[in-house]
This record gives sequence, C-alpha cells and structure tokens, in this order.
Amino acid sequence: MSLPVERDKKEFVQEKFSSVTPKYDLLNSLLSLYIDRYWRIRAARLLKDKDGPILDICAGTLPLSMEIVRQKSRKVIALDFCFDMLKYGLEGLDSGFKDTIFAVCGDGEILPLPDEAFSGITVAFGVRNLANLPKGFREMFRVLKPGGRVVILEFSRPANPFFAPLYRFYLHRILPGLGGMISGDGEAYRYLAESIEGFYSQEEVCSMLEGAGFGNTSFKPMTMGIVTLYSAVRP
Ligand SMILES: C[S@@+](CC[C@H](N)C(=O)[O-])C[C@H]1O[C@@H](n2cnc3c(N)ncnc32)[C@H](O)[C@@H]1O
Repeated sequence: MSLPVERDKKEFVQEKFSSVTPKYDLLNSLLSLYIDRYWRIRAARLLKDKDGPILDICAGTLPLSMEIVRQKSRKVIALDFCFDMLKYGLEGLDSGFKDTIFAVCGDGEILPLPDEAFSGITVAFGVRNLANLPKGFREMFRVLKPGGRVVILEFSRPANPFFAPLYRFYLHRILPGLGGMISGDGEAYRYLAESIEGFYSQEEVCSMLEGAGFGNTSFKPMTMGIVTLYSAVRP
C-alpha cells in the first residue's frame, strides 16, 4: 500500500483508529509482547518532576494518561481527534482517574488550548500519524510553559544489522496478518508497518523539534531500537 498524502491522511488515520478501537489495547500489548506498558512507564517518568497540568496528545484509549497519574497525581488533559478511541478509554477508566483525566476531542496540529498552559506534554505513538509534524511541534511549543518538557514515544527502525531484517520480516509479514485477523482491519496494520518504515530518523525528529524552538533535545532508543524515547525542553 502507499501512504496517504497529507490532504487525506487525517481522514484515513481517524477512520483506521475508529475501526480498530475495541481491539486496540489488546493488540498493542500482544504485538509488543506486553512491553508497551514498560515504554509508557519510562516516558511518564521523564515528567515526574513536573507538578502542573500535563497534556497527553494523541491520547487514544488513555493508557499513557493513566500512567502519568499513577506515577504522580496531576491534572492530565487527554487530546485525540478520534472520538471513538477517547470514548472507549473514558468508559474503561477507573473511578480514581475521573477527577484527574479530562478528555478533549481535537486536532493535535491545531490545539484548542491556550498558550503556555502546560508543564509537560506527552505523545505516545502519535507523532508518526500527524499529517504535518513541524506544525504539530510548533503547537506543542506554544501551549508549553517555558521550562516545560515534551516527551515523545515513537516507533523507530532498529540499527543492528542482524536484528533489523528479522524485525522487518515481523513488521511486514506477521504483524499485518495477525493485526488484521484480530481487529478485522488488515489495512490498519499494513499502514502501521508502512508508516514506521516511512517515518523520520531520530536525528530528523530532533532537528524538527529544534526548528519549532525546543532546546535540550535528546533521544534514547529502547528495546533494540524498535521504539525511541525523545525529550525536549521549551527554553
Ligand atoms: C497509535 S495511537 C496511540 C494512542 C496512545 N497514545 C497509546 O499510547 O496507545 C495514535 C492516536 O493518535 C491519534 N491521532 C492521530 N493524528 C492525530 C491528530 N492530528 N490529532 C489528534 N489525534 C491524532 C489517533 O486518533 C490515535 O488515537
């Protein structure tokens, strides 16, 4: 399949996430061998020193929003443009989270939020889906307080020459079939594989963050480089 162009990407992504919503959490855990929880724990830890409100963009069914509150009770605004994902997440939310996590249905590239409102921002497995990433980063910069940190988790491509072909085999031959069988939407999992292959390198992501005004950018590949944890600060 070819990746949708920017004009159509938002519609395509919204539709795909809507279609896999009921099986999204299960598949996430199965296809990552339950390591996804650990990745989110690591991401949330980078914001443990922040007391003010946190914005979780591309929040989906709210797994990272919950992890942020588990680690330290703070107000989390969970934003996603797929109403079904947010609704599913909210319906499954324990009562303990109901006074701390607030969902907003909106576009991560045009945040319906005021300037300098948040101490921290997280995006887990979301930036790859944005149709215009530099625009998304400029919006993150705008709503973050000076001194605030943005933390991004995103799939990346392993550099190890022995592991890389095995991972590519899994990505293109196993994941779409398994994901399609369980979710009923093989195209969504073919898109996942293609969007991982087509995504920017870690250095490119950092230079885009810098282009939006961020400083102290860093990245840490995890789990053989399948996933990368990025961090940057608004000066
Ligand atoms: C792979 S899911 C990640 C969900 C969650 N963060 C997690 O850790 O599982 C990506 C989410 O990004 C959302 N998304 C993609 N583009 C978006 C945009 N422009 N604005 C808001 N949400 C967007 C999708 O609707 C989807 O729920």
